[in-house]
Amino acid sequence: MTVRDLIDRALRHAARTLGGKADVVARGPGRVNLIGEHTDYNSGLALPFAIGQATVVAVRERTDDLVIVCSDQFREPVRLRLDQIHPGQVPGWAAYPLGALWGLLGAGVPRDRWRGFEASFVSDVPSGAGLSSSAAIECALLVALDDLWGLGLDSAALAAAGQRGENDVAGAPTGVLDQTAVLNGRREHAVLVDARSGDVELVPLRLACAGLALAVVDTGVSHAHSTGGYAARRASCERAASQLGVTSLRELGVEDLAAASGPLRAEDARRVRHVVGENARVLETVDALSVGDLDRVGGLMTASHMSLRDDFEVSCPELDLAVEASLAAGALGARMTGGGFGGSAIALVREADLEAVETAVRSAFDRRGFGPPRVFSVQPEDGAAVVIPADSR
Ligand code: GLA
Repeated sequence: MTVRDLIDRALRHAARTLGGKADVVARGPGRVNLIGEHTDYNSGLALPFAIGQATVVAVRERTDDLVIVCSDQFREPVRLRLDQIHPGQVPGWAAYPLGALWGLLGAGVPRDRWRGFEASFVSDVPSGAGLSSSAAIECALLVALDDLWGLGLDSAALAAAGQRGENDVAGAPTGVLDQTAVLNGRREHAVLVDARSGDVELVPLRLACAGLALAVVDTGVSHAHSTGGYAARRASCERAASQLGVTSLRELGVEDLAAASGPLRAEDARRVRHVVGENARVLETVDALSVGDLDRVGGLMTASHMSLRDDFEVSCPELDLAVEASLAAGALGARMTGGGFGGSAIALVREADLEAVETAVRSAFDRRGFGPPRVFSVQPEDGAAVVIPADSR
């Protein structure tokens, strides 16, 4: 769906669901992560980009202290008073938008600056697919409120608000990768995220000019980071860092790995090897992109997948099959993207091979008795932004 189509759909949905005309409309895209997985909460490096699939939110101010959020994907709107927005009190999907609102407290926006509002969301980011449908919701609302309330927050403050909401209100102990990608994305660029310094650098990524596409294979295996594996991986990394006497695993280089693994339990040592290797692969990918060596980028993506599969153990049979089938059909490289345990894989593919890769993945899934995957291609697109500003009223 084009941006214009999605905005039109949002305006039609808003006309049915809001009590009057919207004051501000904003868009927050999903993201894929090209490389750099499970590094962000280890103060590490990642190279995601924003995609064309997005959430659009239309927001209308109220004169009372009610907040009402509704979405074309969930039947019931959620209504709360502003003073009811606290961790543990926001039900279901509303934890993402209202968690982001709660996160604004940490960005220096106290409750007395909050005003009641209604927000109507539409989205074509598949949820549970590892494409950051939650950060798309959070960031769309945050840029809308930033404009409506004249907050003047920068993207780092907005990203931190989204992350805080996700951690404290939605209960997922995630890092800042998704919100940073969603807020800083730029057409034809990837976003080099340094979670230690907070620096964000745009890296040119003109896939189409190079005759390439990035195929996404949504396995249909739904995952949630508020339960189980994600938190366990994070705990393992933090335990290893503290045993090794470093503030984060970012302090370690590949050359430290042999000595570092000694004092650690075997499983933690494997987690460390993934994180340290992955940081190095991100820098190598940036280097390979700078000289246009896309074959090397592909090789690094595949190495990342193997490390996530074998050392970090966050892949699943469907993701592994998507990667294997893509590579066998000629992809330059392929890997799972996002937190794992389901969700999507990505494959770097020559445009001429796109159809063959899609056919190969579909038939491999069919042969293994897995449900049919969704396959589509993405390009780096612009990040979250207001599309109809409040001052145009
Ligand atoms: C999820 C989290 C991110 C990041 C990735 C793994 O997408 O939201 O913060 O940790 O998993 O790289």
